[in-house]
Amino acid sequence: MKTKRLLITGAAGGLGRAVREGLAGYAETLRLSDIAELGLAAPGEEIVRCDLADREAADALVAGCDAILHLGGISVEATFDSLLQANILGTYNLYDAARRHGVRRILFASSNHATGFHRSDEQLDETSPRRPDSLYGVSKCFGEDLARLYFDKFGIETVPVRIGSCFAEPTDRRMLATWLSPRDFVSLCRAVFDAAETGYLMLYAASANRDQWWSNAHAAQLGWKPVDSSEPYRAAIEASVMTEEEAHALHFQGGYHAASRSVG
Ligand SMILES: NC(=O)c1ccc[n+]([C@@H]2O[C@H](COP(=O)([O-])OP(=O)(O)OC[C@H]3O[C@@H](n4cnc5c(N)ncnc54)[C@H](O)[C@@H]3O)[C@@H](O)[C@H]2O)c1
Repeated sequence: MKTKRLLITGAAGGLGRAVREGLAGYAETLRLSDIAELGLAAPGEEIVRCDLADREAADALVAGCDAILHLGGISVEATFDSLLQANILGTYNLYDAARRHGVRRILFASSNHATGFHRSDEQLDETSPRRPDSLYGVSKCFGEDLARLYFDKFGIETVPVRIGSCFAEPTDRRMLATWLSPRDFVSLCRAVFDAAETGYLMLYAASANRDQWWSNAHAAQLGWKPVDSSEPYRAAIEASVMTEEEAHALHFQGGYHAASRSVG
């Protein structure tokens, strides 16, 4: 699909900064938004500061956009009240604005923590049961379901992407399986927005790591092929001392989120 104005929420965050650079020039206009400071707009950019929990502001933010890359929200375990505002209310406000303004497609940054209580020796696919490992994971399940409703009822296409661990480099043993390079994430975003049609298409996203927990038929359907791998980092990571806590967390796909005895 041809994207005229692509809205990127959470554009000041880690992934937001990577896509701001990697998707420069991808659409006629990138509308970058965050609750935090975003600096000055470069050519082809618009900057709109917005708290997604503010319904009127979210409505104005979405007006005039034909597609959305929804990264904005809390990206770790947090109190229920803060997740309620940013991830639940914020995602609802965004989707309902998308309905009012005729947005065609949304990439929703979901998370592997929606299924993080599965053991790390299990192989999952897009149809595996959810087992959220945190209130954060539950907030992502809400977003996935809301997206499904808005596709079935209003035809707004969503690709919920259960992102593994998207950072510059993998830094621990779990990330040897879950790492997603920023470059592979950018190419996935392009594949999602380039596709003629996606419908509601759930997928996982990890780089071409040696150990794969998620089979990715839907990602392949989009023609996405990750090119990076955690393998070059393996020796240094495996040379580090494994604490008892890390060994316990490694039993779960969600790592420390699942192993922790508390929520919020
Ligand atoms: N980085 C990863 O490995 C990873 C893994 C799984 C899922 N995700 C998801 O991808 C998205 C981006 O992740 P990230 O690593 O860049 O996180 P991040 O925390 O660096 O960025 C999130 C951004 O959202 C903004 N934000 C928070 N509350 C907001 C609100 N109420 N209104 C508007 N903006 C708000 C923050 O200011 C921040 O800039 C998040 O939704 C996260 O849950 C990331």
